[in-house]
Amino acid sequence: MKTALVTGGSRGIGLGIAQELLRAGWTVAVMATREKMCYPESVEKLDSCGGAYFWFTGDVMSSDDRRRVFAEAAEAMGEVRLLVNNAGIAPPVRCDLLDLTEEDYDTVLDTNTKGCMFMSQLAARHMRTLEAEGGRRGTIVNISSMSAHVVSVDRGAYCVSKAGISMLTKLFARRLAPDGIYVYEVRPGVIATDMTKKVEGKYSDLIGKGLFPIARWGMPEDIAKAVRMFAEGALPYSTGTVIDVDGGFHLTSL
Ligand SMILES: NC(=O)c1ccc[n+]([C@@H]2O[C@H](COP(=O)([O-])OP(=O)(O)OC[C@H]3O[C@@H](n4cnc5c(N)ncnc54)[C@H](OP(=O)(O)O)[C@@H]3O)[C@@H](O)[C@H]2O)c1
Repeated sequence: MKTALVTGGSRGIGLGIAQELLRAGWTVAVMATREKMCYPESVEKLDSCGGAYFWFTGDVMSSDDRRRVFAEAAEAMGEVRLLVNNAGIAPPVRCDLLDLTEEDYDTVLDTNTKGCMFMSQLAARHMRTLEAEGGRRGTIVNISSMSAHVVSVDRGAYCVSKAGISMLTKLFARRLAPDGIYVYEVRPGVIATDMTKKVEGKYSDLIGKGLFPIARWGMPEDIAKAVRMFAEGALPYSTGTVIDVDGGFHLTSL
């Protein structure tokens, strides 16, 4: 069965992923912090995709919420074959590493990394109970960032949180391969969403000056296509695989 839980599916990249999966015939459970009625534009986009979807509210930082939402999604769809760990936040303030507060560090790490760790644990325990389909019981796709390997000293906590997701990808991939559960990482570059609105001018300028080999903003659908490729088993002999969706930014050139 094509059943997916997408955390942070209410806006931006997660919404793009939910739309792509719905159009490809998946049933999708969206997890967001607020009720569906708070996102009329997103609901219109999801409705227009034609498939069945469910909406659950919860905070990935909360152990109770993670457990409840995962159980509700599994109950509503019958099972969860795909988990997309997408929910994430930018640092509450951009500031020099020497001024970073413990509070901001904890908030970013708890949302981005702890959320991913324990949603993956829930998914793994659930997927291990499912019958294998074509040799696979389930798939987990983690949305990290180019910040997993690129240093930004004014966004230190974010970089650490995303590097942590890269290690979680490897750990879960290694642990779950014998169970037929495959784990992948999509590393976005700069994508046009609410998260990057505040720095839109800065990045448009840098893109104009040739920062990225592919000279345009990334779009949520660019990330969604990569997620779908992994979700639909396009790489059956790969796990722990990372794909950069960053307009070629990771290329070092002379
Ligand atoms: N945009 C980029 O350039 C970029 C680049 C690299 C990586 N990424 C990563 O891609 C992912 C999505 O980013 P985006 O740009 O689409 O961001 P966004 O537009 O700000 O959307 C963030 C999504 O995450 C959800 N979320 C945030 N905190 C949550 C929490 N505690 N519990 C549950 N859901 C929560 C939000 O839900 P609500 O609507 O309820 O707030 C929203 O759906 C993030 O992990 C981000 O780090 C983004």
